[in-house]
Amino acid sequence: MTLTDRPARRLLPLLPMTGHTTGKRSAVTCHLKCADACFHPVPNTSENDYFRDIAAIALSRRSLLIGAGVGAAAIVVGGQVTDVPSAAAAQSSTLPFTPITPVPASVDAVTVPQGYQWAPLIRWGDPLFSKKDVFSPEAQTAELQARQFGYNNDYLDIIEVPWLGLLGVLVANHEYTNEGIMFPPAADEAQADEQRRIAMAAHGMSVVQLYRTGRSKAWKYKVGAKLNRRITVATEFEFTGPAAGSPLLRTKDDRSGTRVLGTLGNCAGGTTPWGTVLSGEENFNGYFRTAGTSDAEKRYGLGNAPTARGWEKIEPRFDATNPGYENEPNRFGWVVEVDPLAPNEPPVKHTMLGRLKHEGANVIIGKTGHVAAYTGDDERFDYLYKFVSKEKYDPRPRLNARWHNKRLLREGSLYVARFTGDSPSGEITGTGNLPADGAFDGSGEWIPLVVDGESRVPGFAVDEVLVHTRLAADAVGATKMDRCEDVQPNPKTGRIYVACTNNSDRGKPGKEGATEANPRNANRDGHVLEIVEAGDDATATRFAWNILLLCGDPKTNPSAYFAGFPAEKVSPISCPDNLAFDSEGTLWISTDGAPGTIGYGDGLFKVPLEGPERGRVQQFLSVPREAETCGPVIKDEDGMVFVAVQHPGEDGAWGDQHSYFPDYVAPNQLTGDGKWGGPRPSVVQVWRS
Ligand code: FEO
Ligand code: CA
Ligand code: CA
Repeated sequence: MTLTDRPARRLLPLLPMTGHTTGKRSAVTCHLKCADACFHPVPNTSENDYFRDIAAIALSRRSLLIGAGVGAAAIVVGGQVTDVPSAAAAQSSTLPFTPITPVPASVDAVTVPQGYQWAPLIRWGDPLFSKKDVFSPEAQTAELQARQFGYNNDYLDIIEVPWLGLLGVLVANHEYTNEGIMFPPAADEAQADEQRRIAMAAHGMSVVQLYRTGRSKAWKYKVGAKLNRRITVATEFEFTGPAAGSPLLRTKDDRSGTRVLGTLGNCAGGTTPWGTVLSGEENFNGYFRTAGTSDAEKRYGLGNAPTARGWEKIEPRFDATNPGYENEPNRFGWVVEVDPLAPNEPPVKHTMLGRLKHEGANVIIGKTGHVAAYTGDDERFDYLYKFVSKEKYDPRPRLNARWHNKRLLREGSLYVARFTGDSPSGEITGTGNLPADGAFDGSGEWIPLVVDGESRVPGFAVDEVLVHTRLAADAVGATKMDRCEDVQPNPKTGRIYVACTNNSDRGKPGKEGATEANPRNANRDGHVLEIVEAGDDATATRFAWNILLLCGDPKTNPSAYFAGFPAEKVSPISCPDNLAFDSEGTLWISTDGAPGTIGYGDGLFKVPLEGPERGRVQQFLSVPREAETCGPVIKDEDGMVFVAVQHPGEDGAWGDQHSYFPDYVAPNQLTGDGKWGGPRPSVVQVWRS
């Protein structure tokens, strides 16, 4: 059955809206993406301030130093002084550009700097396996969608494969769906069910083989290529690590607790040094109905109400109140790993990295050869985590080395971050005004949750730590953060960058107020932290930190701070989300939420980290109406940039589309060359003209 088999057009209440917004995101985005997380009570009700005070005594500024706002930092841990390497002071760039003027949020266009042009590389509905799988929103089926590029692309990478010549592989996450603008209104419950099945097939991930005719030439994707793959809610995953097989992961469909169908809410991710892709399962709670009574369910925002998409109506496992499915929600909220070069290999979910609302995960090889993976829990007042592998990375270009490296995330240790400020608490006023020492900065430690497979949390067995990670982290006094999104190690310097996107609740009555690591109450515009691991080793258990950026529009927000760079000379920026680095170690930030805060479209920004330009935020592009900018990939050596444009026209409706990106043809028209008059989340390629 296709969606147009039935003539009647009566809008079913498939996706009830709450009708309110956070002042940042639209009501639709809140409802569909995060299950209205900002309108529910903050799930973290633990009281951790006590631990912060103890840590402040244990780690003073004298024992751990970082120079904020300078090109090199000295870090002193355990009496040893180590110079942290810094990149060249003056950064040349193969992507020279004049920053664009900020674009009003109502503009339905991709705006790039003068001298650059853009084109979609792949769009929602483009066929992956056969040109016969033609895209048509009015004739869509679940089977077709499972053979096409999915919806709402978030994480993105373009992995070049040297031994395949001029070939590459695109890997993208498909975080969630918006049925109200994807399809005509369902005529009846049977058609609504088919839309639910299509939506399931539009979630997950895509792997797409690319080719080009020479370096610096635009990439194209190849229909029917060997590496093309769709991963959906129906794809089988294997659990790895200490919680695989745990009774907490068993259901009536999988009494072994070792296999699960599907991945959900795939937000950001990271490409590993061994060429696989990690993807974070983020807002999984919005897909499940549960009893909602246990501490663990409450801590993850799981409740007893019909879900927005109603998948529980067609697959009983999405209603965890059904006998035998109580643990199904425990099987989501993980970091998954996919090998894009092994299309027939089952993807895995790594229990060793804990279960939370993972934004993504990024791996760096430490000085000892062990690898570290950083991952943030994107919820107001939740935490920042680090995994360290038991085994060492094998750098040899051999197949068996790659096989070894693909197992590195299965065994090791898991830590959660505790940040300690070095300024008196009276100087952290919640306004964002700098304390007397001129910096929001201090020291920190990675508190162990699991070390070499053994629980370090009193009262928690290892599988309990890994499945109920938020509860375990509450128990050890982790620092409550302002929604950690991407956490990205700089491959040039080893420093770690953390995008804290915002936290409207900080400082509200009954909620934790400003801390030095999260120094603004009602943090509307977000901030970016810089971490230097002790000894410049990613496997260290102590670190120094400082705040690189307090985001905002300096014209209207005097607390906006850009590492000391003159505020009048930067592009306004709000709600930092995804992070990336170019070949020179310069930071690039994409945003999600600027329309609701500073009134401009979301965009992509370049931020030098070294020398006199440190902190100079420069806007490179702006995305269409109601879209966020995701998955930036910076191929500066090719003069090329890629972004995933997610949820364009999010607030529209089938009969009232708000965006026509990227095809820009008449509303809801399908042209002979496959263009459609409605919003299509797409991967955009930008290159120098
Ligand atoms: Fe899917 Fe935390 O953004
Ligand atoms: Ca300070
Ligand atoms: Ca994100």
